[in-house]
Amino acid sequence: MVETKIKCSFCNENAVTRIGYAKLWLCKEHFIQFIEKKVFNTFKRYGLGGKNWRILAAVSGGKDSVSMLYILHKLSKDIGFELIALHIDLGIGEYSKISREVVENLCKSLGIPLIVLDLKELTGFNLPEMVSKTKRPPCSLCGLIKRYLINVAAQELKANAVALGHHLDDLIPYIIKNFVLQNLFEISKLGPKTDTLNGLVGRIRPLYEVSEDEIMLYAYLAKLPFVQNECPYSARKGLEKTIREFINNAEKRHPGFKIAFARSIAKNIEIYKNIGKEEPLKQCKICQSPSNSEICSFCKITAKVAGKPLGSEVKTKIAQLHLLNLNHTSTT
Ligand code: AMP
Ligand code: FES
Ligand code: ZN
Ligand code: ZN
Repeated sequence: MVETKIKCSFCNENAVTRIGYAKLWLCKEHFIQFIEKKVFNTFKRYGLGGKNWRILAAVSGGKDSVSMLYILHKLSKDIGFELIALHIDLGIGEYSKISREVVENLCKSLGIPLIVLDLKELTGFNLPEMVSKTKRPPCSLCGLIKRYLINVAAQELKANAVALGHHLDDLIPYIIKNFVLQNLFEISKLGPKTDTLNGLVGRIRPLYEVSEDEIMLYAYLAKLPFVQNECPYSARKGLEKTIREFINNAEKRHPGFKIAFARSIAKNIEIYKNIGKEEPLKQCKICQSPSNSEICSFCKITAKVAGKPLGSEVKTKIAQLHLLNLNHTSTT
């Protein structure tokens, strides 16, 4: 946020920020409106959801997904979709405790139904225990667990889509990295939406055209509660950091670069889907979830950690939680 005596482009208030690519100075109220309108337009532009859809918003408690949830809550009335929130408690000490509280309090205050999936309750192990038993890098382990649990919950709820809090500055570095490494099919998964296919519920990214700075300022100005600390396992890798610096530099010199890039990717997403196409997803032989191999990663990992694959058991537990909680309130 900049303290300035320059007036907002739309009213007489002092501006708090400048939006270079739109050539606008905006006051607090108009900035908030600008971001909300942008997300609304993203919904329309990419067809992210419509009337009577059920959207499951995955909320970690960080600024991105908290802001996403808050904006989706407002849009749900205008567009007419149903919104349910989902939080996964990974059991990473204080970090997870605070994250869960933030999401629970926010959902309560906004009246959004919330499902909390507690990894320890579902499997008997929290993430740090799984990390030490498997010796796998925490973030990749965490990613596969979250993807699995989010998909099971979305299937159970018959959600039309799962909303994720990825923004421009999350996505562009991955797109560039995958391009450099020529993992072109991977790029097809990094657009504003993926369709439901072979048991994998589609994903939407309502913050597709919002930058990290914008979402940070939005969360701050809208006075949203969010977890400030980073996950203790988080580590930004070298190449990704270099790419981030490059795109921020490009944006400074050529305002609008990031959005133009993201739009071009979205336009060509079908091309990426067809280049280097992976084999169609199979069904895990144990739990019947979508999988790249005969046995899904979740069943493999839990077999290592617990001595037996837990996919089916976890799916049954989640299904029962859903049935037992028709209001979809927290499971504990
Ligand atoms: P990350 O995988 O940390 O980059 O997070 C990407 C997105 O996944 C977030 O913006 C959320 O939408 C979702 N997400 C991450 N962690 C959680 C969690 N613990 N519970 C629910 N959703 C999550
Ligand atoms: Fe997944 Fe940190 S939240 S490793
Ligand atoms: Zn104004
Ligand atoms: Zn499985």
